Amino acid sequence: MITDNYPLEFIRDQFPALQKIEKDYFVGYFDGPGGSQVAKSVIEAMVTYMKNGVSNLGGSYPTALETVFLVDEARDHVATLLGTDKKNISFGANMTSLAFKISRALSESWDSSSGNIVITEMDHHANIDPWVTAAQRKGLDIHTLQVNPETKTLDLSRMNELINEKTKLVAIGLASNAIGTINNYSAIIERAKEVGALIAVDAVHAVPHFTVNFNELGADFMFCSAYKFFGPHVGIVAVSERAYNNLNVFKLRPAPDNPPNMLETGTLNFEGLVGVSEAIRFIASIGEGNLLSEQLTSAYSKMNEYENYLADHLRSHLADFDHITLYQADNTVSKTPTVAFQVKGMEPKLVCHHLAQDYGLHLEYGNFYAQTLIEKLNVKHQALVRAGIAPYNTVEEINRLIQAVKDLKQKLKF
Ligand SMILES: Cc1ncc(COP(=O)(O)O)c(C=O)c1O
Repeated sequence: MITDNYPLEFIRDQFPALQKIEKDYFVGYFDGPGGSQVAKSVIEAMVTYMKNGVSNLGGSYPTALETVFLVDEARDHVATLLGTDKKNISFGANMTSLAFKISRALSESWDSSSGNIVITEMDHHANIDPWVTAAQRKGLDIHTLQVNPETKTLDLSRMNELINEKTKLVAIGLASNAIGTINNYSAIIERAKEVGALIAVDAVHAVPHFTVNFNELGADFMFCSAYKFFGPHVGIVAVSERAYNNLNVFKLRPAPDNPPNMLETGTLNFEGLVGVSEAIRFIASIGEGNLLSEQLTSAYSKMNEYENYLADHLRSHLADFDHITLYQADNTVSKTPTVAFQVKGMEPKLVCHHLAQDYGLHLEYGNFYAQTLIEKLNVKHQALVRAGIAPYNTVEEINRLIQAVKDLKQKLKF
């Protein structure tokens, strides 16, 4: 059994939030895609940093040197996590702010005579609107890779026409935060490289679930957010050397204009960065190996297998209920353990209310900022209910969710 070898108890012990009890139940958190729970070691490291005396970067006294060291360490750890070098890693407030900053800085060099950018209907809008806004300012065309609402995958049949010699940038997500589809990103990246376009990859929903390797992907920008992988609210971007050289960033005169610091406007969130390192060490602690990279690979393989086991269990039961509509690609398509559904005859908001109120199950509803996708799927109320599975979820929680959804049928008035 997959569950036998999985260090669930060890993992659950690392999350103080899992001790929360509501209505006699330990709370079942299924809201990871919106933001995971935070590991104890992350919380403690952040508190310790602040307790020990904080400092900005500019001194030669011990606390300042410590802060310099900790920022460097965070860059190092993130580089290992994302398969690149620390000189390619910049930090910011969150993914959205970094994407807006980069899109503006990049578009300074776009001339308006001709050209296009390519976005997708599958993406979270944080990987759509920053690029669209910049392109519109410069008068570029917007090309869109559409979603096939039947297969719930990207339709790549017109890819070669849409991504062409005039394409400046292709923005794609690795995986959908709303319905879990893992996109055929390799094919898209390959085509973008063929025509020399820059490539922006949204890995926010991917990094909590599977290994991503920036250098191997050959992308120019790759975004993620530490609060989705057991850390604090810190935005992260990996940037290729050629892309840094194309950025015309707004800056203060005394501030550095070299990569990777040029994107880090103002003072960084030092305690947050301490937490980022710790979050990565937490993931590594689930795996085995001598090197951080080996431990991370091993950890992802364990988490991946376990999460997919839980997700398949949930999906197969929900598929049997005639009052449930599942929104997911079929078995031939790889998915993150993110299960989106609707209860026929009940508003998603009310579904979430009942699940929380009666069963201590925390699920989110809405368009999850993947608004175009939700519109394309033509779902009622413009909202789905989403069960996002994390490494700390249990079979008991999944069974509780299945039972809770089953029980909802009695509340429906047909
Ligand atoms: C896939 C995806 N991309 C981007 C974002 C935006 O990230 P942030 O909240 O760090 O701006 C999110 C947040 O939910 C997301 O799920």
